[in-house]
Amino acid sequence: MTSMKVASTLDELRESRRSCASPFGLVPTMGALHAGHVALVRRARAECASVGASLFVNPAQFGSNEDLSNYPRTFQRDLELLGATGANVVYTPRAEEVYPPGFQTFVTVDEVSRPLEGASRPGHFRGVATIVAKLFLVFSPDRAYFGQKDAQQVAVIRRMVRDLGFPLTVVVVPTVRERDGLALSSRNAYLSPAERTAAPVLFRALSAAAEAFDRGERSGDWLRATMKSVLSREPLAEPVYVSAADPETLGELGEVAGDVLLSMAVRFGSTRLIDNFLFERGRWETGIREG
Ligand code: PAF
Repeated sequence: MTSMKVASTLDELRESRRSCASPFGLVPTMGALHAGHVALVRRARAECASVGASLFVNPAQFGSNEDLSNYPRTFQRDLELLGATGANVVYTPRAEEVYPPGFQTFVTVDEVSRPLEGASRPGHFRGVATIVAKLFLVFSPDRAYFGQKDAQQVAVIRRMVRDLGFPLTVVVVPTVRERDGLALSSRNAYLSPAERTAAPVLFRALSAAAEAFDRGERSGDWLRATMKSVLSREPLAEPVYVSAADPETLGELGEVAGDVLLSMAVRFGSTRLIDNFLFERGRWETGIREG
């Protein structure tokens, strides 16, 4: 176990960061850590001389209809987990430090933020891009680690890194799944037992479309219809969107000529889950099952 410094102010963070060896890897989080986050920190640990993480429930990425106050907070456990996984420094700022009174400077990544998650969560990616840009500025990481589960977040951050010229590499780590295929998410804790039993339908729907693709199916409409048909057989699942899109622009594909991102958001009661499979460089990235 490394001895981890906890910085709750910008000054403390700058002080701790100065003594960190390079290359420096950053894992931004909103806490409520699970095995998916641990996979990010482990990967950063394996590739970098020192590792920083942030624990900050970012108000700017929550819509007015989304309950910021109910977001799971497991601060002490998160710190223990980060320490045990080998983080060197963790930043735990107060919202007033990140967004001081009169704050009005936001980062907007236009087109990539609009479809899919962006269509149902207006302003969400503006909040994500703004906090991630601020974290990049204060940590100056050489590498920054994000989960494949949030595929649109990855596309938004990659675009921002290119457009603003942040001198760092974005590393995308595979989704971690339960044994039945459900992608790990802090939101899984909200599912009732019946909803939890129903939730692996996302994985089954993605698997069915990937199998059709592997048999030679290249029609975007057909792949979307395949996913919808599997979801329609689960009465507790209410699809929000189902997509077969270009992984970089997130534009829906008519015919798939190369890479494709299959993704979806599905409601179970008041809980909204997302998941995806990515076909890139001739192979599927579908995640890793636990256990
Ligand atoms: O993926 C998350 O947990 C958040 O969106 C992030 C990247 C930490 C920004 O608040």
